[in-house]
Amino acid sequence: MTRPAQALIDLSALQHNLTRVKQAAPGRRVMAIIKADAYGHGIVRVARALNEADGYGVASIDEAIVLREAGVTRPITLLEGCFEASEMELISRHALSVVVHHAAQLDMLERAAQKSPVTVWLKIDSGMHRLGFAPVEVKPAWQRLTACAAVAQPIGLMTHLACADDISHPATLHQLECLERAAAGLPGERSIANSAAILGWPQTHADWVRPGIMLYGVSPFCGGRAAEHNLKSVMTLRSALIAVHHFKRGDAIGYGASYVCPHDMPVGVVAIGYGDGYPRHAQTGTPVLVNGRRVALIGRVSMDMICVDLSTEQGARVGDPVVLWGAGLPVEEVAEHAATIAYELLCGVARRVRCVEVHGQG
Ligand SMILES: Cc1ncc(COP(=O)(O)O)c(C=O)c1O
Repeated sequence: MTRPAQALIDLSALQHNLTRVKQAAPGRRVMAIIKADAYGHGIVRVARALNEADGYGVASIDEAIVLREAGVTRPITLLEGCFEASEMELISRHALSVVVHHAAQLDMLERAAQKSPVTVWLKIDSGMHRLGFAPVEVKPAWQRLTACAAVAQPIGLMTHLACADDISHPATLHQLECLERAAAGLPGERSIANSAAILGWPQTHADWVRPGIMLYGVSPFCGGRAAEHNLKSVMTLRSALIAVHHFKRGDAIGYGASYVCPHDMPVGVVAIGYGDGYPRHAQTGTPVLVNGRRVALIGRVSMDMICVDLSTEQGARVGDPVVLWGAGLPVEEVAEHAATIAYELLCGVARRVRCVEVHGQG
């Protein structure tokens, strides 16, 4: 028997979520964000399933080339642009678009000798203070780009929002105003909105939206749940019980003996652990589904195993199915129990977990 840890990837759910993006931002073009191996879902399978997107956003040229070699022909944008001048030739050869967020990248473009001009998004720092040109630097940077033979015209204008996931936060409107002032009078398409802005800030939709997490069926809002936005979970991390024991009151479970049975109880051992990407920081009480019903994680997460309290699931047997997150158990909820965010859990699923493509969860 092979180790039962698997990640089911529901391609129908992915397509449903893209439809939700288009409903929320009608008429806007969609740059599907599929960096970090499509948030852990498999970049090629996700790009193929999202063939109704208008383009893709990735973090590195390696990810982009994997897509081109798999036959993906739509626009692909390198969201951090190029890291060194030597990448310019590959960028041009694979017809990639680049974000230009720093003067060092302007220098690289000006020195580039590639034949076909590259499509550029000029990144504006409207207040997140991570990547991008400060408002006063925008027009000079734009002028250098328009004068550059290596750059296709017109240039797009992009910014990223820091607090769109908090619907009452004033920063989003400040960022919008800042962008409008910095880019006033400049031609070219605009792109501002991530998932939270697509769902919560329609005034940010502009020409291109850039959904990431909502495509994977996760709420982008603090404390939110996908179902509130009619999003469907794409990844279900599942495994099985590999042992069932009956312990006595006072018996300690797992490393550090951190959990002590409060009464005689059945305990299940599940073949999943931090070596698979299940969070080491998940606390006793984190929900787990056994045979489709909720039970609680108990004790410390090990590399390959976790233990669960089967007091309410007395009939559970070795081989019974276990869901760690996904269909029936929101990944957002598991993330909260592990003091992290769903993005990190999805991106962190380890390579040893077999991915299985499915079309609908029944
Ligand atoms: C520049 C940029 N745009 C869009 C996104 C998508 O964000 P989200 O996954 O919150 O929709 C990201 C993700 O980090 C990003 O870095």
